[in-house]
Amino acid sequence: MEMETLIQKRLRELETRNEKAMQGGGANRLAKHKQGGRLTARERLDILLDPGSFVEMDRFVVHRCNNFGMADQRAPGDGVVTGYGRVNGKLIYVSSQDFTVIGGSMSRTQANKICKVMDLALKNGAPFISLNDSGGARIQEGIESLGGYADIFTRNVTSSGVIPQITAILGPCAGGAVYSPSITDFVFMVKNTSYMFVTGPDVIKTVTHEDVTKEDLGGAITHSQRSGVAHFATEDDKHCLLMIRELLGFLPANNLDDAPVLPTTDTPDRIVEGLNNLIPDNPKKPYDMLSVITECVDEGYFLEVHKHYAQNLIVGFARFNGRPVGIVGNQPNVLAGCLNIEASRKGARFIRFCDAFNIPVVSFVDVPGFLPGKDQEWNGIITHGAKLLYAYAEATVPKITVITRKAYGGAYIVMGSKLLRSDVNLAYPTAEIAVMGAEGAVNIIFREQIAKAADPAAERARLIAEYENKFSNPYVSAELGYTDEVIEPAMTRKRIIDALEMLKNKRETNPPKKHGNIPL
Ligand code: HXC
Repeated sequence: MEMETLIQKRLRELETRNEKAMQGGGANRLAKHKQGGRLTARERLDILLDPGSFVEMDRFVVHRCNNFGMADQRAPGDGVVTGYGRVNGKLIYVSSQDFTVIGGSMSRTQANKICKVMDLALKNGAPFISLNDSGGARIQEGIESLGGYADIFTRNVTSSGVIPQITAILGPCAGGAVYSPSITDFVFMVKNTSYMFVTGPDVIKTVTHEDVTKEDLGGAITHSQRSGVAHFATEDDKHCLLMIRELLGFLPANNLDDAPVLPTTDTPDRIVEGLNNLIPDNPKKPYDMLSVITECVDEGYFLEVHKHYAQNLIVGFARFNGRPVGIVGNQPNVLAGCLNIEASRKGARFIRFCDAFNIPVVSFVDVPGFLPGKDQEWNGIITHGAKLLYAYAEATVPKITVITRKAYGGAYIVMGSKLLRSDVNLAYPTAEIAVMGAEGAVNIIFREQIAKAADPAAERARLIAEYENKFSNPYVSAELGYTDEVIEPAMTRKRIIDALEMLKNKRETNPPKKHGNIPL
């Protein structure tokens, strides 16, 4: 029998170690984990990344804790798989927690592994994707594990606005652990298997005596509809990971890079006849702004962000002539398209993301104003509405706005008006750009005249018609130069592409400062 050479022996050892690392927390824990429909940490990476592109780092790292029998519980990798790979050929850095190893809990060494790839992502200017599935701080390690979280939070903040950061919640995420995801740019959740909360149902029961399930308190539906913490609620792990790939397709690698332009089969000068008949004759009748968007963009493809949250404002990504844009649109179908607290926060965060990552913002406006009400005022619509205004005014990326119908008052100014440094403002002939709606205006300025009239109703109707005639159109604004062009709706796609092309080399900078003080 031939003697084993040194290299053969060493390769065998490497193979054995690699095999052990692949087993995670062992067959039993793996079987339990998969019962709930969840994939393993490595299966998730297989779906997220281009085949064969993953390069693992720190596979053999083990924790250094000896408290409470932990010396006997050392698994290579320590509950997280980290490294780098490609999505559609583009470099990304990734961490994927392995719940089968001590519940994916965060140890000092697990945090060190995650921080290592986060540092590389920042230095090399590529997105960082965190796949979270963890019981939180490793209880046996105590405060050391908290230090690990703090290191991750610090890196999340430092990287914010430099590289895109995306988190998928694919299992539990509780306590302070929720704060890393919420600093990142986009949070994905999976229905029925993931949840996020600062304090869980048991603590809530003790403190406030409320009964609530995990799902109801912090599941994917709750966070994508009610709180807005999650941007996407997906059906299962696979759907979630494929959606992340899709989102990455719209994003640049970092803040100095341009968003990826893709070839399109859609012609840039496509005339969108359908839009000429979309706006109803009756200005009180709603219509679907989503169809305006999908009619105009390349191949009708729109990746909606925060689809179920604050549905009175639509935000998401699409392409015009292959070039990625962020789209913001009032939705007349929900709350008549009014801006409220949730919509303002949603829009502001989205616009700031686009601005940080050189993605032009295209806005479709049909907004009667800010939503009136005690509830809105008491909860701070003034501060929250200001966020949206701030985000639009601060943004230096190309900004193109199309006013389809109503653009009244402060909401008109906020929604990407020329007056907030927007580059190109277009309006449909159906646009009504005014300080307020005709009825409201007449009731205020002609109150006495109407009261004294022989036939007050007839007088009111006459004055409304007169006001509408004078102001409920795009021409006052066009005469002032606040609107650059009044366009036939069918020309929307062509004109947006013309504007994007014209603004391709736009350079605008804000004065140097440490940072602005956005009304948080
Ligand atoms: C150590 C943990 C752990 C943790 C789970 N495990 N969480 N070990 N530290 N935080 C271990 C379990 O002991 C178990 O080990 C294995 O992981 C799987 O857990 P199960 O409980 O069997 O799984 P499941 O029934 O699915 O329940 C999942 C769970 C539960 C709901 C997450 O494990 C749980 O409540 N864990 C504790 C959560 C928690 O309180 N974390 C600390 C939060 S404070 P065995 O050997 O039996 O398989 C925090 C602060 C962060 O995170 C602050 C940041 C600033």
